[in-house]
Amino acid sequence: MSRRRQIYEGKAKILYEGPEPGTIIQYFKDDATAFNAQKKGTINGKGVLNNRISEHIFTRLNHIGVPNHFIRRLNMREQLVRQVEIVPIEVIVRNVAAGTLSKRLGIEEGTPLPRTLIEYCLKDDALGDPLIAEEHIACFGWASQEEMNEIADMAIRVNDFMSGLFSAINIRLIDFKLEFGRIWDGDFSRLILADEISPDGCRLWDMDSNEKLDKDRFRRDLGGEVEAYQEVARRLGLLPEGDENEVLDLEQHRKKRGK
Ligand code: CDP
Repeated sequence: MSRRRQIYEGKAKILYEGPEPGTIIQYFKDDATAFNAQKKGTINGKGVLNNRISEHIFTRLNHIGVPNHFIRRLNMREQLVRQVEIVPIEVIVRNVAAGTLSKRLGIEEGTPLPRTLIEYCLKDDALGDPLIAEEHIACFGWASQEEMNEIADMAIRVNDFMSGLFSAINIRLIDFKLEFGRIWDGDFSRLILADEISPDGCRLWDMDSNEKLDKDRFRRDLGGEVEAYQEVARRLGLLPEGDENEVLDLEQHRKKRGK
């Protein structure tokens, strides 16, 4: 990895220059942060699971025609993706009240929303990713009106697809975060889905028990983080039945062989 030029190190991923122009490599770390990085920790094996889960979801989204940056998975912790100019907005899609929405508006967690709600936050760690209105986006030119229409359309399609994907494995999709990027072709750009989709950026509750299978286990000190992420991967059919540690064992095994 030392051969590669590091472009950026974020909270949960490192980005390296890719093998061809216009590509980058996403390396998934085990680091976890919450509450704007005030809480930090490590979830052993999280990066391996998120790499696999995100690959699965982006591949399926590609099949249904939601354009995204995923090209292919390279190994246990890395995937090759298209380089994009990230739109500085976090797009939050909500089906059920939880987290900051519950806190902000005093709505009990777990209350189904009358309709899917899309919220926007400015991607700015120093400011704590503040909630913004579409008016701010237009006023400061963070995205055009056309782009905002496309973002909302894609977010709804992703929500419909993911709600079905998860309900088929007895998981309720409470909310999630998306990021979009621009691909430039001369003076023209088009938007594609970027970043990752994993239990780090989704709320996923078991449909029967309401057990949390996502990063809230870390945020709220509930324990069993890696088991929860593994359970999501297992239900998605990404881990061999009956051997939940297979993915992590495989990584250890490869490391020993020096690959
Ligand atoms: O997660 P938190 O309670 O801080 O904020 P939220 O606005 O309730 O988050 C809504 C959804 O977006 C959750 O599934 C979060 O995991 C996700 N999110 C994220 O992935 N990254 C952020 N910077 C903010 C939210």
